[in-house]
Amino acid sequence: MATAICPGSFDPVTNGHLDVFGRAAELFEHVTVGVLINKKKSSLLTVEERIEMLRECLADYDNVSVDSFYGLLVDYCRDHEISAIVKGLRAVSDFDYELQMAQMNYRLTGIETLFVSTNPVFGYLSSSLVKDVATYGGDISGLVPDTVLNRLNQKLEISE
Ligand code: PNS
Repeated sequence: MATAICPGSFDPVTNGHLDVFGRAAELFEHVTVGVLINKKKSSLLTVEERIEMLRECLADYDNVSVDSFYGLLVDYCRDHEISAIVKGLRAVSDFDYELQMAQMNYRLTGIETLFVSTNPVFGYLSSSLVKDVATYGGDISGLVPDTVLNRLNQKLEISE
């Protein structure tokens, strides 16, 4: 069975990510959305909150599941018999780092990375920008799913 993973921090998931997941789901029999547990990076949302929101947003897909992982992505892929990594590329600025990671992952276990070109509508979108805009009261509707919009608004009001 051809299976893939879309890995990331998803703090929070954006409509750009969802576009990539949907396209991966058409190419592969099963897709895992893998949330990295990153103890070095501070995050706005807990891993549990991110997983909950991702599951809500992806409930309509029969062939997409959500999980978290810690450590090397290639180890998770080997342990779960995942044959490819799927990432979205927004612009040339993403390319250097993404290529480096793809080459390192290939060097480690021979796993392939496939890039999908992000829908230009979401070309400028990133989780960090969404957090920044939301933190200062900007409107992020249309950039993230409604469940994320509500959760972020609640979270930011509480922490103010
Ligand atoms: O959304 P992000 O934070 O840009 O995602 C980065 C991610 C999770 C894809 C990358 O940091 C990763 O794969 N981390 C797991 C640790 C690992 O395998 N590092 C070596 C990468 S070559």
